[in-house]
Amino acid sequence: MHKSQPYKGKIFLLFIIVVIFIFISFVRSPGTNWSIPKPRGAQKTCPYQVSEQTITPLINTDHFLVSAYTDQRVNGFSIRIIGIFKRDAIQTLHCVFCCEGHLSTTTPTTILPHSDHFGFPFDTTDVMCQVPSNCDATHVTLLTQPDGVKALNHSWLPIRNKNMKVENKIHFNFTVCISTLFDKYNNVLQFAQTLEIYRLLGVNRVVVYNTSSGPDLDRLLRSYNHGGFLEVVPWPIDQYLRPSSGWLFSQYGGDLHYFGQLTTLNECIYRSMDRSRYVLLNDIDEIIMPYQHNNLMSLMDMLQQQHPNAGVFLIENHVFPKKPFEQSKKSPLPTWKGVPGYNILEHIYREEPDRKSFHPYKMIVQPRFVEQTSVHDVLKMSGEKVKVPPEVCHIIHCPISTPRQCPLEQLYVDTRLWDFKDNLIPRVNEMLTRGGLLKSTGKS
Ligand SMILES: *[C@@H]1O[C@H](CO)[C@@H](O)[C@H](O)[C@H]1NC(C)=O
Ligand SMILES: *[C@@H]1O[C@H](CO)[C@@H](O)[C@H](O)[C@H]1NC(C)=O
Ligand SMILES: *[C@@H]1O[C@H](CO)[C@@H](O)[C@H](O)[C@H]1NC(C)=O
Repeated sequence: MHKSQPYKGKIFLLFIIVVIFIFISFVRSPGTNWSIPKPRGAQKTCPYQVSEQTITPLINTDHFLVSAYTDQRVNGFSIRIIGIFKRDAIQTLHCVFCCEGHLSTTTPTTILPHSDHFGFPFDTTDVMCQVPSNCDATHVTLLTQPDGVKALNHSWLPIRNKNMKVENKIHFNFTVCISTLFDKYNNVLQFAQTLEIYRLLGVNRVVVYNTSSGPDLDRLLRSYNHGGFLEVVPWPIDQYLRPSSGWLFSQYGGDLHYFGQLTTLNECIYRSMDRSRYVLLNDIDEIIMPYQHNNLMSLMDMLQQQHPNAGVFLIENHVFPKKPFEQSKKSPLPTWKGVPGYNILEHIYREEPDRKSFHPYKMIVQPRFVEQTSVHDVLKMSGEKVKVPPEVCHIIHCPISTPRQCPLEQLYVDTRLWDFKDNLIPRVNEMLTRGGLLKSTGKS
């Protein structure tokens, strides 16, 4: 009896020590999620209403939200919301999250308007948010007051790219981002030719933002949509704002630069970030064409070997004016009579860019290097930027009209597109046939 007393005391002491040890290690272990246990049987409170739109008006403001992405590249923040904000009405905003069905506390924002707005009242604007530590966020919205309950009436944005860290999710080599189709765009032949050239060059996905398309192009887009090569994103910007027909506010007026081109280019970079190694940013009448390689991958392998830290590659624009095609050149090509739009294979005269004046570039980027982009250059990035020599790669730009007429002797004959004709022509025919757009098969 007497002897067991100190023994029991030791066990008790040991027990206390173990409890303290467990407690301390729990508190100090890095990354411990101090998740507050969810109240049992609590009602699911959010998201009450998820936005199905690509443009979502933000309640109580003049602004619009487009999409929300995980982005941990900016210190102290984990979510980037891409929006279109009225520049003279920027106000304090608060982030609120939906954490697996429960409202989070609100957190402060940092608002980052893009520096390129060309004088228009509306500007592409990023809002950076921090997710509270006890929240596995699925949706986000913004509030003008730090009172989270008001958020119940908001349209919530789903948070995308949640698995950014998983490298093997990258399953596209190249994505082409075509900013906006507008004014009932109906250039079917050029569209099909351009898409099929890109497919032959190794592109895996083309993303197109659609404000309005003509009846024939609509049929072509629908026939592509079954294959997964083309992704059509609805872009009804004209339902919310007065898009401009030009790039400069002082000259053309309107609410924002073209049809929100800058917003769609940024949106497309983030949309591609967790799935595509490279992103090409160009218009539908432009093809980024390698001249010393058969495809974009071997071009990029070479460029990346020369510039291992580069994330942005500037490609020089070369205009191929709409000169009448010289029949004497003995075209090896079908004419696709009756198909709306023009035949880019007939554009074989190239202007030399006037390098003394501003001449634009378009870009191939690694999306993870880019934070904000404009049309001809990136605005915020990490890594290096490289100007690609035009003899290695340049843009075949076939605009609908070329006001400035160069005399023929100042033009160069460039039939690079013809190198692809044997594979290109059957593919174009097939896609036109699928869309019901080819009445009589093109002879070749
Ligand atoms: C919720 O929004 C609708 C319109 O969007 C408005 O009519 C209604 O008053 C709002 N309710 C609350 C509680 O704010
Ligand atoms: C990406 O490029 C690599 C190397 O050329 C190729 O092996 C792979 O099949 C390509 N992936 C896709 C999805 O095209
Ligand atoms: C493109 O947008 C217009 C206007 O909203 C719509 O009528 C058309 O069906 C859309 N086309 C496709 C392929 O989504």
